[in-house]
Amino acid sequence: LNYNVARERGYIAEVLFNGLRRLEYRGYDSAGIAIDSNRSGFVGTSKTAESAGIDRNEVSKSNSISIPYNHPLVFRQEGKIDSLVGSFYEEVESLNLNLEEQYSIHAGIAHTRWATHGVPSPKNSHPQSSGVEDEFLVVHNGIITNYEVLKETLIRQGFTFESDTDTEVIPKLAKFVFDKAHDGDGDQTVTFSQVVIEVMRQLEGAYALIFKSPHYPNELIACKRGSILLLGVKELTEDVTTRSLFHDVKTLTRNGKPKELFFSSDLCALVEHTKNYLAIEDNEVVHLKDGCVSIFKFDYVTEKPASIQRALSFLEMEVEQIKKGNYDHFMQKEIHEQPQSLTTTMRGRLKGKSVILGGLKDDIKTIRHSRRIIFIGCGTSYNAALAARPFLEELSGIPVTMEIASDLLDRQGPVYREDTAVFVSQSGETADTLLALDYALENGALCVGITNTVSSTLARKTHCGVHINAGCEIGVASTKAYTSQIVVMIMLALDIGDDKVSTKQRRETIIDGLYNLPNIVREVLKLDTAMKDLAESLMDEKSLLVFGRGYNYATALEGALKVKEVALTHSEGLLAGEMKHGPLALVDETLPVIVIATRDGCFSKQQSVIQQLHARKGRLIVMCSQGDVSLACSTGFCRSIEVPQVEDCLQTVINIIPLQLLSYHLTVLRGYDVDQPRNLAKSVTTQ
Ligand code: G6P
Repeated sequence: LNYNVARERGYIAEVLFNGLRRLEYRGYDSAGIAIDSNRSGFVGTSKTAESAGIDRNEVSKSNSISIPYNHPLVFRQEGKIDSLVGSFYEEVESLNLNLEEQYSIHAGIAHTRWATHGVPSPKNSHPQSSGVEDEFLVVHNGIITNYEVLKETLIRQGFTFESDTDTEVIPKLAKFVFDKAHDGDGDQTVTFSQVVIEVMRQLEGAYALIFKSPHYPNELIACKRGSILLLGVKELTEDVTTRSLFHDVKTLTRNGKPKELFFSSDLCALVEHTKNYLAIEDNEVVHLKDGCVSIFKFDYVTEKPASIQRALSFLEMEVEQIKKGNYDHFMQKEIHEQPQSLTTTMRGRLKGKSVILGGLKDDIKTIRHSRRIIFIGCGTSYNAALAARPFLEELSGIPVTMEIASDLLDRQGPVYREDTAVFVSQSGETADTLLALDYALENGALCVGITNTVSSTLARKTHCGVHINAGCEIGVASTKAYTSQIVVMIMLALDIGDDKVSTKQRRETIIDGLYNLPNIVREVLKLDTAMKDLAESLMDEKSLLVFGRGYNYATALEGALKVKEVALTHSEGLLAGEMKHGPLALVDETLPVIVIATRDGCFSKQQSVIQQLHARKGRLIVMCSQGDVSLACSTGFCRSIEVPQVEDCLQTVINIIPLQLLSYHLTVLRGYDVDQPRNLAKSVTTQ
């Protein structure tokens, strides 16, 4: 087969590869695929032989027979998806394999990895296998915390391990369970679900798993605990009825068999196939067999099956959202679509001179009576919360504390029943944030979620919350989600403070500012060319400092984070009030320093900072309000970034945009990968 012919024929492979491309932004160091092929020579059991249409009487009961069965084609490789695709088709050609769909049903799996245990390499990529014959193949998101114990046990049982991954214990455990069920009796049957349930019983940690096995052709099983997993159902609009474990359920569809069924960890990979999906819950086992779906819920406490009813959800997302359109990079597209994303974030939530957040309506009174509000998040989401904090303190009068999720967990910091814990996460799947959520739930706090991802674990586990509705964000460096998060938290503050007469005027001014914000964002985006020029002057620098304070401390942190993560230039965001307590020592005529000095309550203090930096011969770049260049840059020796002035608490939304543009252009000029920066992943689902 040549490459093009293979592409035409290999529909399943193409669907899987395309799915991987959609997920590549979440991890991109290695990838793999397992599909059926016309490879034969599988060593199987009489049960397998039967399902393969072979006369059982011709089969010995030794469990070790060679039967002409389609051996899965497993292909794994280090690097990005496109290189996997190219090498895959070369392999198909060299093995003279037939990818044409000889099956009316075909079950394939694929995975793109972000290394946690073991370096990126083919042997550490998924699908992980039970052994040379690939009797059980597994793709896994998450971490198995007891894998070392399981590995030792399996080694004692004669298994040998090839990879450095925690995942490898899963297919090997499945084989162990399967073999044990067939011990001494080649005719004994164990269903695929029973094998997987037994495996799940022994696993600890967080996982979303999909199993494929040639013992169970045309079947796939998925299960999860912790990590997100979705089922997409093409051409199915009826409710899904789920049945209990071990019940003899044939189908969940009421209007015929669905044509195509998809498992995915991300809605982005489903949207081009179907908008009907189901967010699989913890401890559910979803069994696809002969084109039908059965969902089992297993109670691990009582060890009894439970019968449940589920309905499909409808995905409010368009395929265009996950395409680059006319832009060169997703990050660039996402920066430039902020006028629209902010409009969508506010749509239906600003009513005249008040704010209505439907997702909080039953809990807003409880929030108003909290003893403390704690913002919890990681990376950009933490910075967004930091940007909104002063306004929330001002309007609510409630102490607001900030927690980086991992640090809260490390310290096991105090969280009380009287607290409201607000979890901020673009993906809704960041492991540290979710573990901190579990911790806050255990401690009885009211938990509020602010996320961009419908059906995410965060959205489902929190008591209440607000979707930021920024649209799918693909670039690893978060941009539009940051500004939408800030706006949601500003609206949260307005909603909490809604019952206070003393702040009515202030609230109305900010609401007017919110209405106008998308227009101002459109205006500030015109700085694109100026930021490209600035990037050219900075592209060879080794380091960049960003000073901010008040509302714009967050801007300094976030601006520096952008430069660091995509342009791979060392950069630090610093609290200007701390400048003379250390950072000033770094300043000389070679070090570029950005100072954010737009008009707000901190303006005069920032002018003093500029003077001190000038006195140390710092290479100043001052961000100031339009018309303020001479005041801000009174030294005459600085470059300036002039931005439109808005209300103080909204200024952070405006000020970050030139810095997003700067980091974008720096990255392009320095020749780095904008959307998939080195060593990073969009959604960090491991601790
Ligand atoms: C990773 C991403 C960042 C993101 C952070 C938190 O580090 O690279 O862009 O800000 O995770 O992600 P979350 O989805 O929780 O907002």
